[in-house]
Amino acid sequence: MTPVTAFSDLARRAALHGGEIVREAGSGVSAQAKGLPGDWVTEVDVASERAIRELLHEVTPGIPMPGEESGGATADRYWVVDPLDGTTNFVHGFPAVGVSVALVEEGRPVAGCVHAPFLGDTYVAARGEGAWLERDDEPPTRLGVSDRPSAQAVVGTGFPFRRKGSLPRYLAALAVALETFEDLRRPGAACLDLAWVASGVFDGFFELHLAPWDVAAGGLLIEEAGGVVTDWTGGPGWLEGAILAGPPQVHAELLRIATSTDLG
Ligand code: IPD
Ligand code: CA
Ligand code: CA
Repeated sequence: MTPVTAFSDLARRAALHGGEIVREAGSGVSAQAKGLPGDWVTEVDVASERAIRELLHEVTPGIPMPGEESGGATADRYWVVDPLDGTTNFVHGFPAVGVSVALVEEGRPVAGCVHAPFLGDTYVAARGEGAWLERDDEPPTRLGVSDRPSAQAVVGTGFPFRRKGSLPRYLAALAVALETFEDLRRPGAACLDLAWVASGVFDGFFELHLAPWDVAAGGLLIEEAGGVVTDWTGGPGWLEGAILAGPPQVHAELLRIATSTDLG
């Protein structure tokens, strides 16, 4: 095992560990409001994050883990974790829910895992080593982005539902995206949206206002599956949360859409 695959293996263990807690809890869990409207947390988010933190701390005590629910500082190298991505889906019993664990080094994710506890899918990537899907008891399959032309592309997205002030910016891009692509999807768990791009299920993805814990592992999956990931200006700052991702041909369209509709 190379050093980076040792970390992706640990990310996988941690994501499965958190996912076990999410799956056993099932749905019907009550949620408390956090900060922005539509931002919810449940005791399951917190329990998953605690379990992941304990496991990562036990194996890599020198690497900090800022988590969505409990915060914490970053460093040159740090774990970043979304213990339950898609909390609204979880509360409503919609199974598009993920657990995302990534190791970031000098600002770039280098190892990561996205696990879907209700779907039984586990996506793992290590920089330079590829991206893989484990499903049921079948041998892992290597991920590759799709080669569909833009006119046949089905592209995932997420709405800026917590930041209505961004609606004019987002809706301008959405309108052109609907004209450009065959269709769009909004499942509601960003880490899974990205995993579906890496596996060629979706042909691209765009969203504003995500957080590093939403995108770190999924963005790495896409890069290791042959896709392109940037921010909305085409720059490398996608970990901050404005993200365009897809196979090269769809990413180029997304970048054209994002830049041509930016009137501000
Ligand atoms: C949310 C989901 C959703 C995205 C939101 C995220 P959470 O994560 O990924 O798809 O649109 O912006 O915050 O809050 O359920 O972990
Ligand atoms: Ca999230
Ligand atoms: Ca979350």
